Amino acid sequence: MIDPFGRSVTYLRLSVTDRCDLRCTYCMSEKMTFLPKRDLLTLEELDRLSTAFITKGVRKLRITGGEPLVRKDVLNLIDSLSRHLKSGALDELTLTTNGTQLKNHAARLARAGVRRLNVSIDSLIPETYARVTRGGDLGGVLDGIKAATDEGMQIKINAVALKQDNADELGDMIEWAHGEGHDFTVIEAMPMGEIGEDRFDQYIPLSLIQEQFETRWQLTPLAHRTGGPARYVRVEETGGQLGFITPLTHNFCEGCNRVRLTCTGQLYMCLGQEDNADLRAVMRDNPDSDEALASAIDEAISRKPKGHDFVIDRPGSAPAVPRHMSVTGG
Ligand code: 5AD
Ligand code: SF4
Repeated sequence: MIDPFGRSVTYLRLSVTDRCDLRCTYCMSEKMTFLPKRDLLTLEELDRLSTAFITKGVRKLRITGGEPLVRKDVLNLIDSLSRHLKSGALDELTLTTNGTQLKNHAARLARAGVRRLNVSIDSLIPETYARVTRGGDLGGVLDGIKAATDEGMQIKINAVALKQDNADELGDMIEWAHGEGHDFTVIEAMPMGEIGEDRFDQYIPLSLIQEQFETRWQLTPLAHRTGGPARYVRVEETGGQLGFITPLTHNFCEGCNRVRLTCTGQLYMCLGQEDNADLRAVMRDNPDSDEALASAIDEAISRKPKGHDFVIDRPGSAPAVPRHMSVTGG
């Protein structure tokens, strides 16, 4: 699949639920309305859609949410999708998770061939973690990371930089993560969905964070990119890898290789744009053949936009898109 800008689409992010057991302040409002459960695709439908993408050249599949591990029986889907790893059609099957349920699922994820996980943690101070997530238990997440590490999985910690909550703590978090053998990525808060707070009060540009890091460590830029938004450096003092995801201070779309499918079958060709394709309807109208689905996917890819236009430059501005990150996942 090649988009109008010559970018090859080889990466699918599949959101299996918009629900979450946390309510991170930059992601959701406290009283979040979720989709009615009856609107969700079945696990069989999610499998069918994913498989259609793999047939069309997707090599990497990330299961995401909301929080993917709160969806009942999601491990059955992951087990089933792992056949594409065994056949060689897929290079990688991964998961983005908040880690709250990881302890219970780590062994089975590892058995399914999941080798790497992204785990979101925005603070290692239990009180701060509980405040940012509106009630999350940091200890449980750390137990989950330990369980996954014991299963041989590689962990990348993702943290959203927050002006008031963790801007002063990120350096310590990185030293902890690298000490544990985990990679670390810092993310700029993106203006997606109403959260009942002003993102202007949360957002801090990573240019400032990077300056702060440079007074603490020597950072060596690394050439490799993952077709994604992150720029990577090596922290010489820790030997660990550090990524910066800067959708606001740098546009990162030139190498974009991904599309996102929601748990109701809408395909979003860009995180920061509203245009989407309803693959659920096409799939359900064609129960016996994936031909129409393949054409609908091609047509959607032909509309993949050049990039997003996120800005948070003054108080009180509306989100760039009404949809929350939890609809398409990270
Ligand atoms: N801006 C930036 N990152 C976000 N995430 C959720 N909402 C936002 C937002 N508005 C992050 C989570 C997680 C990943 C899935 O996306 O913290 O790391
Ligand atoms: Fe849940 Fe992730 Fe959103 Fe936090 S950022 S509320 S963990 S989906």
